[in-house]
Amino acid sequence: MSKLKKSVILNNGVKLKNSVVMAPMTTWSSNDDYTVSDEELIYYKYRNSGAGMIITGCTHIQENGIGFTNEFAAYNDTFIPGLKKLATVIKENGAKAILQINHAGNKALPNLINGEVMSSSSVETVATDFAPALTPKELSEKEIEVIIRDFGETTRRAIEAGFDGVEIHGAHGFLLQNFVSPFFNKRKDQWGGTLEKRLTFPIAVVTEIKRVINQYAQKEFILGYRISPDEPMEGALRIKDTFSLIDKLIELNVSYIHASLPDALQSKAVDATNEKTYLDELSQYINKRVLFVAAGTIQTPEQAELVIENGALPAIGHAFITDPLWMQKAGNGESENIYLTIKKDSVEELKLPKKLWSAIQNSGSWFTIE
Ligand SMILES: Cc1cc2nc3c(=O)[nH]c(=O)nc-3n(C[C@H](O)[C@H](O)[C@H](O)COP(=O)(O)O)c2cc1C
Repeated sequence: MSKLKKSVILNNGVKLKNSVVMAPMTTWSSNDDYTVSDEELIYYKYRNSGAGMIITGCTHIQENGIGFTNEFAAYNDTFIPGLKKLATVIKENGAKAILQINHAGNKALPNLINGEVMSSSSVETVATDFAPALTPKELSEKEIEVIIRDFGETTRRAIEAGFDGVEIHGAHGFLLQNFVSPFFNKRKDQWGGTLEKRLTFPIAVVTEIKRVINQYAQKEFILGYRISPDEPMEGALRIKDTFSLIDKLIELNVSYIHASLPDALQSKAVDATNEKTYLDELSQYINKRVLFVAAGTIQTPEQAELVIENGALPAIGHAFITDPLWMQKAGNGESENIYLTIKKDSVEELKLPKKLWSAIQNSGSWFTIE
């Protein structure tokens, strides 16, 4: 049997029906009031019979934590009915539904928030395709406490909506990473300074979410944490810092750690001095202490199997957009029939929300369009 089809049991006893994960992918397609749209439901419905675990695109836990235009929200209870529809659609064919929860920190979109962009410290950001360079305001201790509570509140909503778990978005330079990074976190209080103190915020978020799970979940609930292992700038986050974060997350008994990598089978740490890839480094460091998931340019079933051989479950992004039947074809040994490009005349058939299709078309070489 293909390794991809093998079921997986998490440390809390929850079973994934196979070893493939659908990576979190924003669709830029919520309704204008930030509720989940019908287009999004159709997009997920068409992709719900493949991966054993499907992670949604990120949702913001506070109104001012939005990172993408038309990012569906979960920051108050009015969003629960839409979230419920989303969880129901994802679970329809046995996949576990995971809500990715986020505060965009210094990458929040200034024109979509009330007030100032906030981060661990007031350090100028680096411009990206999605966010301009800006100097955020440093969060007060009180504001930090409120954000921690709001991560918990969003988890309560995920439970009420019927999700099987949440994934904390600790990657891609958003708020959690703003705290772990020595480049962005220049605080001198209990939330910054030494590496230990820079880990205080993610630890507090995980601890609060666990408290909420204990209080509200009627059955075992999955808690994942996504990381970016390092940052390219001088004096910024390095993989050895991430190893310390990983130790803390394992102590806190999270269900899985999910590394977002540029290319899971090839890319190496910023300060690599040997031939080891991120995947080798992280998988050896984790050493099966917790389930490890890795994403990054995993496109073919053969690549996904290699990732499993290297100690991680493969999380697949692009290829589930370009071919919703990826898993079925992989499972039947039909690799050659998997579509890895988007044919312009197949957009309707792929059930891509209009705004996602527009983002894809405007993204340069991000996707291959034929
Ligand atoms: C359209 C799109 C939207 C994405 N949105 C998110 C997101 O909301 N949260 C996140 O952690 N990663 C996001 N990512 C990154 C993916 O989860 C994944 O790590 C990345 O695309 C690499 O995997 P791939 O090469 O298989 O696509 C997004 C990627 C794509 C293509």
